[in-house]
Amino acid sequence: MSGWAETLAERIEKRTARPAVVGLGYVGLPLLAELARAGFRPIGVDVDAGKVAALREGRSYILDVPAEAIAPAVGEGRITVGTDFDLLRDADTIDICVPTPLRKTKDPDVSYILAATEEIARRLRPGQLVILESTTYPGTTDELLLPKLAAGGLTVGEEFFLAFSPERVDPGNPRFVTRNIPKVVGGVTPACTRLACQLYGTTVERVVPVSTTRVAEMVKLLENTFRSVNIALVNELALLCDRMDLNVWEVIEAAATKPFGFMPFFPGPGLGGHCIPIDPFYLSWKARQTGFETRLIELAGQINGSMPEHVLDMVRRALNRQSKAVRGSRILVLGVAYKADIDDLRESPALDILGMLEDEGARVCYHDPFVSGLELRDRKWASVRLDAATLREQDLVVITTGHSGVDYRLVMREAAAIVDTRNALKEVREPGHEAKIFRL
Ligand SMILES: NC(=O)c1ccc[n+]([C@@H]2O[C@H](COP(=O)([O-])OP(=O)(O)OC[C@H]3O[C@@H](n4cnc5c(N)ncnc54)[C@H](O)[C@@H]3O)[C@@H](O)[C@H]2O)c1
Repeated sequence: MSGWAETLAERIEKRTARPAVVGLGYVGLPLLAELARAGFRPIGVDVDAGKVAALREGRSYILDVPAEAIAPAVGEGRITVGTDFDLLRDADTIDICVPTPLRKTKDPDVSYILAATEEIARRLRPGQLVILESTTYPGTTDELLLPKLAAGGLTVGEEFFLAFSPERVDPGNPRFVTRNIPKVVGGVTPACTRLACQLYGTTVERVVPVSTTRVAEMVKLLENTFRSVNIALVNELALLCDRMDLNVWEVIEAAATKPFGFMPFFPGPGLGGHCIPIDPFYLSWKARQTGFETRLIELAGQINGSMPEHVLDMVRRALNRQSKAVRGSRILVLGVAYKADIDDLRESPALDILGMLEDEGARVCYHDPFVSGLELRDRKWASVRLDAATLREQDLVVITTGHSGVDYRLVMREAAAIVDTRNALKEVREPGHEAKIFRL
């Protein structure tokens, strides 16, 4: 190991190294909190002055990170946050956790990674370790970050260190949090891997080194593509079961009793969030650069992307049964977050459903215990109360997210008709009410 590597290893060991996190969102903020918990004095940098101000006031804006995990450390000066990248001059390690969305053309938008890397490159000094955590296509760390960081003349693996380590955090999942989710690490050189593994070893229970940054990048895309393809399979099965008058949920639950070789996935109104609807397209884009067509990934995207249309079809049928048209009907969409028990609206299919119902002339409102308000189509929407009176006013309720804490028994009792895309009512099935439920 070079002298710089040895010095950094010793500083990490003694917790005198200062780790930094760039991008303090769903991924970066939990990491910042974990680094503080591990005994470091981390630095957080974000371009969003509002988030920085919130953290400085001891407030958390991420549901999974309680204010108590941040506020005392900020108060005592153990966590420093700011919008100024000059804070990175004091950092020994820098984790990049910025967004990686898609462009309108479904091509990767790596502009956030590039912007953050340029700021880091301008200040890079010997002995620093840079780790990219943002999900991206294989090759990003080697092809985009390395040339920018090495441009100042420092040698990777000797004077500075570079690795990729995908984030696997599952917002809203209390069972698996940053600490007990194994962390895959791939460095540009063995020294880079070793240092990055050492850093994560202070915050997570298990670190899994792999041979290269490209392998680590591909690992994350395999994980998320696996989900996208399997969800597409059950969504397709749900469409088929609908036509064959079978309950797809009953089929899946029974299949899941097989103790090997089967893992249950569940149908829904479409994919949402910043990962599953997006990440597979990073892979198919990169595949196209090599002249390879990822057919299964594209097909999965098409099937999952068509689910909101299917929900609309179910709405039409449910209303038709009551001799009503979509135009003029009052419809309540129950749940707008992309999955249960979180407040994240990114890519949420419920937003598409709200828009499509409005286009068809329905009088639409929504309820979501985690999202009190939202902006859609240049106007503000507020979550309505979920009480008997509101429910009785509706011609139909569309359940898109199965949040815990929602009184589905009340919904079941009071709603005239229900389209249940999440099988949210399975726990509260009551004889006699079945007829008014359209299940995905
Ligand atoms: N959300 C998840 O569940 C999840 C899970 C695993 C991996 N990921 C991946 O992690 C990455 C981050 O996702 P996220 O959900 O935390 O996003 P996010 O939008 O919640 O957070 C990103 C943060 O980066 C900040 N930012 C943007 N550009 C910046 C810049 N140039 N410099 C500094 N800060 C900047 C934003 O203000 C924001 O606070 C993405 O690549 C995503 O695919 C997300």
